[in-house]
Amino acid sequence: MSDAIDLTQERRKYTPKADLDEVRRNYDYDMEKFLTYSSTRDINPDPAALTSYLVSAYHSLEKGLAMEVPKAGFGLRKIRPILAAIAELESSGKASVATRGARGCMRAYVQYHDDRGLPLPIEVETELRALVAGMGAADYPGGSITLNRKEIEEATLFDYDRFIQTRCSVRHFTGESVSPEDIKKAVQRAIKTPRTCNREMRRVYAAYDPELRNYLLSYHNGNRGFGHKLGAVLVVTVDLREFDMIGERNQGWIDGGLFAMSLVYALHAGHLGTCMLNWSEDYVRDQRLRDAFQIPDHEIIITFIGVGHLPESFEVAASPAPSADEVLSIIAVRPSGS
Ligand SMILES: Cc1cc2nc3c(=O)[nH]c(=O)nc-3n(C[C@H](O)[C@H](O)[C@H](O)COP(=O)(O)O)c2cc1C
Repeated sequence: MSDAIDLTQERRKYTPKADLDEVRRNYDYDMEKFLTYSSTRDINPDPAALTSYLVSAYHSLEKGLAMEVPKAGFGLRKIRPILAAIAELESSGKASVATRGARGCMRAYVQYHDDRGLPLPIEVETELRALVAGMGAADYPGGSITLNRKEIEEATLFDYDRFIQTRCSVRHFTGESVSPEDIKKAVQRAIKTPRTCNREMRRVYAAYDPELRNYLLSYHNGNRGFGHKLGAVLVVTVDLREFDMIGERNQGWIDGGLFAMSLVYALHAGHLGTCMLNWSEDYVRDQRLRDAFQIPDHEIIITFIGVGHLPESFEVAASPAPSADEVLSIIAVRPSGS
């Protein structure tokens, strides 16, 4: 019989211990970034932060327009800041999809009231009408759009189970390069992923050239045996300037993770193989990557994604998964006093 192994020792080898100081240094690194670049402690003067503010502010009005029964004059508190943010961004040459979206939303807000003969809030009526004068719905879409159930039923008439069950983390690739157009198409599709308050804070960096790919992957653990056959490597990041509340301190990881998943599905729909490549790294390695590549300090790195062309037939890890019963339960109310 073989000697019993010390399982605790083995586990420690696998996951090296971090003492409390190291834990703190890592949390401090994340916290410092969040506090420096978000508008939680001080308002970040960067136009990107103002743009983000504008999007969340006008989003509360577009949500109002999509309610079953919007109230006349709703969202009044947000209108002046929205108008001021549009003016500041446009006058400083920072017009973007956000300022156009905000204008579109304001146009729809006015139209909503006019179509129903409802009064606009008197405090902002003159400014609002001045802003939207001459703005057509075609050039400034916004507000709400109509979906119908039939459209959704038709759009989902495909074998969803087969689609998701054939998406596996792939670790065999032909070695052919992946075209930037295919990646761009997938990124465009992934942008449809939900995002908090409609702020698009996700960014993607791509490496196609084999030399660049190898250099990028030399900073990554977890691609051994297949990294050199990848046709592209993507780095998904999130811009911290988009956030302004302490409650959002972890929001970037959520929005970024959702986006990464959509991107993987979009690439799967484009017949490309993918493998998420973790960026579960401490601050030293995170900083080392940033020293080697131009990833702005105001972005956090969510994950890498390896992408490549599929061979005719290949093995994937079976990766058995638990049943829904192990994941799903009814939430229970905690008895008072417990
Ligand atoms: C964020 C994230 C990071 C991952 N990192 C790696 C990695 O570095 N290397 C790897 O081979 N697989 C990686 N994976 C793939 C997982 O091992 C895989 O998703 C899991 O076993 C389930 O298998 P499936 O993707 O084939 O369904 C990662 C997955 C996620 C979600």
